[in-house]
Amino acid sequence: MEFSIKQGSPEKLKGGCVVVGVFEGGKLSTAAQIIDKATKHALSDLVARGDMSGKSASTLLLHKLPGVAAERVLLAGLGKPGEMNNKTSVEILRAVFTALNGTPVKDAALYLVDQGFSKDASWVIRQAVFAAAEQAFRADGMKSKPSKPATLRNITFATLDKSGAALENVLNQAAATARGMELAKTLGNLPGNICTPAYLAARALALGKAHKNIKTTVLEEKDMQKLGMGSLLSVTRGSEQPAKLITLEYHGADKKQKPIVLVGKGITFDSGGISLKPGAEMDEMKYDMCGAASVLGTMQAIAELGLKLNVVGVIPSCENLPSGTATKPGDIVTSMSGQTIEILNTDAEGRLILCDALTYSAKFKPDTVIDIATLTGACVIALGHVASGLFSNEDKLAGELLAAGEQAHDRAWQLPLWEDYQPLLDSNFADMQNIGGRAGGTITAACFLSKFTEDYRWAHLDIAGTAWKSGKEKGATGRPVPLLTQYLINRAASK
Ligand code: BES
Ligand code: MN
Ligand code: ZN
Repeated sequence: MEFSIKQGSPEKLKGGCVVVGVFEGGKLSTAAQIIDKATKHALSDLVARGDMSGKSASTLLLHKLPGVAAERVLLAGLGKPGEMNNKTSVEILRAVFTALNGTPVKDAALYLVDQGFSKDASWVIRQAVFAAAEQAFRADGMKSKPSKPATLRNITFATLDKSGAALENVLNQAAATARGMELAKTLGNLPGNICTPAYLAARALALGKAHKNIKTTVLEEKDMQKLGMGSLLSVTRGSEQPAKLITLEYHGADKKQKPIVLVGKGITFDSGGISLKPGAEMDEMKYDMCGAASVLGTMQAIAELGLKLNVVGVIPSCENLPSGTATKPGDIVTSMSGQTIEILNTDAEGRLILCDALTYSAKFKPDTVIDIATLTGACVIALGHVASGLFSNEDKLAGELLAAGEQAHDRAWQLPLWEDYQPLLDSNFADMQNIGGRAGGTITAACFLSKFTEDYRWAHLDIAGTAWKSGKEKGATGRPVPLLTQYLINRAASK
């Protein structure tokens, strides 16, 4: 899909379709007013007749309007003037691309900037790009007869004045982010029998081949043994698939500049292990590597953009399965940090692989470490499928991540990491236990990680509720690639 920005008058733009907005109550957006004039009031007539209500996210497709160069005009309902919000803005954009995809149109020009959206032009452009990419995404690559690719190829964001030029950068960033999300979605959707730790490692190596400033290395179980990663290795004990520790180093700035490290949970299937999960919806645990997928998607996006930063991706990856060799509840293991862990529930495995990856991350002398994990079912109970859970040992970093989430409309919500929760992890037999009970399950999981991140600035994103959708529209969402990429774009800009 190609995106561009162009200045021009809506009646003169040639091509498949021009999209303009109409408000509920009959008011026309500026671009719609110009078309109305050029067509001797075709638009105000049909609004007066009641053919277009302007209701939010409604659409009406018009063909061959006299006085208009484009073959079609798509009217998009913007709702009542001044009443647009984040949710309705996204719904309107999705409705536009659904309508366009219902036509054979190959190229479309959208008048969105300054047409009544409540958010700034950058926000609208980002969400329009994400909505377009979402529509074009196909999850049926494993069907014997995959559906046809979308016909819509070229999307132009048209402006009436010169204001668009300033948006070129935002457009490139959004398009790279959308491609990063696409990679994260594709990997997330793959089943556990294909997307194994070795498969993730191969995809990471391929990313290193495709981008000359990414260097990928893969550690094997014997290497992890040497590093003392007893916690990570305890999770993979029941599996036939070898565990991998994948590292991607992106060099976009001076070697001396400290990197930002992204650590992604890469459990390619989480059965719970000996603490076996119930059967219902267990298939969804193929998505337990969505943190890893978001790291790969973000690394791809920043490499395409050539951000002037150093960023390292660290992906601990294995399966969590029961067997005669699997870790048992009550087992005590020694982590790379030297701290011992009493494993009371083998289903709390994400934190067990992350803690060793977090200790390992210190070797990069990081400026900041951010881990991303489908860590707790409790996070889904707390925040639903709207916000990712955010924890940090520095409020400034938390604030920057929250702000990036707002900008990219991939939002997070901060939860407390107070000392008061730490005693819930006390163990009689080891330095800590790996679960803290039902109460505050998302928080105690973060507390567990915090015991391994004391030496650097750190944040944790629990994406259990946001990384995928269930039900009819099931599939990975590509989140939080937009939040992470935006954060890194902002960091690069502030250097
Ligand atoms: N991968 C799961 C978390 C999860 C569960 C994400 C359901 C999305 C939906 C994680 O490994 C896990 O099993 N967590 C346990 C922790 C518990 C045993 C303390 C959970 O949330 O039930
Ligand atoms: Mn689990
Ligand atoms: Zn898990």
